[in-house]
Amino acid sequence: MDIDWGLLRAAAGDAARRAYAPYSRLRVGAAGLAGDGRVVTGCNVENASYGLTLCAECGLVSALHAGAPPAGATPGEGAVPVLLAVAVVAGDGQPLMPCGRCRQLLAEAGGPALLIDTIDGPVPLNTLLPSSFGGADIASRRDAASQ
Ligand code: THU
Repeated sequence: MDIDWGLLRAAAGDAARRAYAPYSRLRVGAAGLAGDGRVVTGCNVENASYGLTLCAECGLVSALHAGAPPAGATPGEGAVPVLLAVAVVAGDGQPLMPCGRCRQLLAEAGGPALLIDTIDGPVPLNTLLPSSFGGADIASRRDAASQ
């Protein structure tokens, strides 16, 4: 699937303009292309209890799962929607690197090959989050059921 990075950056910029960031005054927007063709977006939502702040990528991943696939879309494996490409921008319209928690969140939604926009162009997520922890580590390392 072709990735229209200009469209993703513009959608992320629109979302950033709707951010609720009265405390940091750093508006952030994120836009992602899903495997079913949707463009999903999110913006940061802050809270007076600072630790409750939601990053833009959190909203994006929630929208990915909450939204219905487009009519006629072929359901993916297990019908779990997948991200292919993500642009995150600040209110100035320039790319913003996802924070550590959001890299982990994006890894589960898009896998290691998920493309992330940077000021130097798109890079696969596994260059930003190498040797990551994932669901397979839980399955392979947890206690045996009998213990
Ligand atoms: N922020 C994001 O939305 N995404 C990131 O990846 C980095 C940080 C937001 C959270 C907070 O509202 C503001 O930026 C300052 O940290």
